[in-house]
Amino acid sequence: MMKGWMSKFKAIFALIVLALVLSGCGEPFLSALQPKGEGAEMIYDLMILSIVIMLFVFVVVMVIYTFVIIKYRQKKDDPDFMPKQTEGNHALETLWTVIPIILLLILAVPTVQYTFALADTSPEVNEEGEEQDSIWVNVTGAQYWWHFEYDGLEVSTSQELYIPTDRRVYLSMTSQDVIHSFWVPSIDGKMDVNPTGNTNEMTLLAKEEGVYWGKCAELCGPSHSIMDFKVVAVSPGEFEEWVQDMQSVTGEETPDSATAQEGQELFANNCMSCHAVGSSPNKIGPNLTNFGDRTKLAGVVEYNKENLVEWIQTKGEDMKPGNHMLDAGYDLEDEEAEKIAEYLMGLSPSDITSESAEDSVYKDSDLSSLFPEEEAEGEGEQSQDGESEEESDGEDSSEDGADEEDSDEENNDE
Ligand code: CUA
Repeated sequence: MMKGWMSKFKAIFALIVLALVLSGCGEPFLSALQPKGEGAEMIYDLMILSIVIMLFVFVVVMVIYTFVIIKYRQKKDDPDFMPKQTEGNHALETLWTVIPIILLLILAVPTVQYTFALADTSPEVNEEGEEQDSIWVNVTGAQYWWHFEYDGLEVSTSQELYIPTDRRVYLSMTSQDVIHSFWVPSIDGKMDVNPTGNTNEMTLLAKEEGVYWGKCAELCGPSHSIMDFKVVAVSPGEFEEWVQDMQSVTGEETPDSATAQEGQELFANNCMSCHAVGSSPNKIGPNLTNFGDRTKLAGVVEYNKENLVEWIQTKGEDMKPGNHMLDAGYDLEDEEAEKIAEYLMGLSPSDITSESAEDSVYKDSDLSSLFPEEEAEGEGEQSQDGESEEESDGEDSSEDGADEEDSDEENNDE
């Protein structure tokens, strides 16, 4: 009897220790328990609130339970003693019905409030009460990578999403094959991406610079568990610089070394039907505009030339099983693959890289240079020819889906 009790206490003790250890676990770049973003903070607060309520219930129940089993256990000198029966006691029954209702209400109010707040994709308002221009990114999930297209900015990239800190970034999300789920645990909650035509929206707001790890959170095939990506949060001024550098890439730039130049030609002949360098609509394979700045290869593998050559030559067969590059028809000599690797690793159009997210250099900006004219919110209708640049003050935005001609007229009556 005594032994049974001891092992139960041991199990409970182990559970408590485990809970304490787990609550401190995880890395800041990949942990919902160390929130670094607006959404993640809300979710964390809800977790803490529900844990506090659960602990309260647990403690109260355990105290009563312990009291009762000690006080009313069978007595040696009076084995037939029967405590007073309380069946049908209205006061007690009301009490233990009302208390859970109150606890659930305490939990429900912020949960509902935060659920709506997390789903809110209306434009941000600055200190003067004016609506700010929104950065919209079209996110496309694919087996097993992510495409990011900055709406109206003529910037495309994949696998590593650059965002400014302290500013909401709006995501418009779909999939090009099966259901995936976009999840950057330390910044926000999950959002599914669907191939069926409906578009999901969410916002990301990183409060600190850093490279945050993202995971696909929906079983999507053999390489689901390694469908990783990164969110690179840099200060607003650095983000602005990055966008401008990315905008300047045409893909026609001549690399410095002769090997890389040969690599560029080989790339053009063998890879361009699926991949792109420079702003492009989503293609079959990842956009490689700033491939030289990637922190990981294929989202998960250590970034070095040897691995890249292996990836090109094996088409990622073992590194990312089931990926669509296996269908690609090219056949290259090792030497040719090395030239392509040299070209790709030299694709670094900007000084702003993941290192900028970790060097604690903060450059402020209101990002107004990215919005040279009035834009329609969230629609891909923006024109970038800068005709109405003189009207730009970068602070207000027309809410309607106006095209350029319309917005020229409507700007004046703001
Ligand atoms: Cu994509 Cu799991």
